[in-house]
Amino acid sequence: MKIAALPLNVYTLTLDSLMSKLKSLKVMFHVEKMQLADLPFAVKLANTMKWGTTMEDFDFNMRLEPEGCWVLFDGQNRVGIATCINYGSAGWFGNLVVSQKYKKMGAGTFLLNHAISYLQNKGATLIGLYAYPHLQHFYEKMGFKPDKEFVVLKAKTIFIKENTRLNQADAEDLQKIVEFDRQYFGAARRKVLEQIFLRNQNFLCVTQENNKIIGYAAAKIANSTAEVGPLVCIKKRPEEAAILLKAVLSKLNGAEGIMYLPATQEALIETAASAGFQEEFRLLRMFLGSHIGEDCWYLAESLERG
Ligand SMILES: CC(C)(COP(=O)(O)OP(=O)(O)OC[C@H]1O[C@@H](n2cnc3c(N)ncnc32)[C@H](O)[C@@H]1OP(=O)(O)O)[C@@H](O)C(=O)NCCC(=O)NCCS
Repeated sequence: MKIAALPLNVYTLTLDSLMSKLKSLKVMFHVEKMQLADLPFAVKLANTMKWGTTMEDFDFNMRLEPEGCWVLFDGQNRVGIATCINYGSAGWFGNLVVSQKYKKMGAGTFLLNHAISYLQNKGATLIGLYAYPHLQHFYEKMGFKPDKEFVVLKAKTIFIKENTRLNQADAEDLQKIVEFDRQYFGAARRKVLEQIFLRNQNFLCVTQENNKIIGYAAAKIANSTAEVGPLVCIKKRPEEAAILLKAVLSKLNGAEGIMYLPATQEALIETAASAGFQEEFRLLRMFLGSHIGEDCWYLAESLERG
């Protein structure tokens, strides 16, 4: 009998996956709530991805969702991290990283499963995340479906020639913003929007007509770096979306900046480009469950919180 020879790379692949499966038989994963003492590990692991994540970023996530930030252990060894945030009927997942030595042994799946159960127990019928395109299949295996392609734009130094002024939103505006945002995001992001509003160094502005909100925008500023977003503006008012973005960028002249927005929003991408932003890479927004938010002009708040 003749046995057909397989290409060498097929043997190698099979051997690799067999080795991973054998290694994974020896590990006993368990998840613990992230504590302050875990932050050096979390920051170091996150920055193997060059995400520029700081202790303050994890601290912020832990204050927003103390039970929803985790470290994965194999026995006593920390081997992975993930965070999520619960907005009631919806949740967001992010910051998933597994130590190099533990990759392809089920650790990522373990953390993702843990987060899905946590959010669903809190009542989430929709879970969102931003995925690297090469990981689409990893998330699809857990039931996530691709939604939109997002671009990540970065500016080394934000430079805007003509200042556009909008006033900082007040506490009364904030209540209306939360309600307005809910229609488009699909769940109330009150806890995040409140925190953005309360931090003095941040900027949050809103445009209204006849006392009704048309759009709002914000930026979170830490040291000399700004994360621009969220921005939500009704679809039929692109000029207002551009004004909101320019108003936020006017507050950030000279800072380093980052933002995340749908690749189809060319008008906003152009506005950002005129202030020095350039595309870095692309991501895929994916959802588990159906997204019920309305279409709009949109900048993500962050990758780990939507
Ligand atoms: C993505 C990541 C968390 C996956 O964790 P992991 O523990 O290696 O994943 P698992 O062992 O649970 O793998 C589950 C499946 O996904 C696949 N997968 C894992 N990593 C993959 C990768 N880099 N590319 C393509 N598929 C991948 C595995 O092959 C496996 O499929 P199989 O069951 O058919 O063999 C890990 O590779 C990692 O930390 N990457 C760097 C950080 C990162 O990219 N985070 C995600 C941001 S969106």
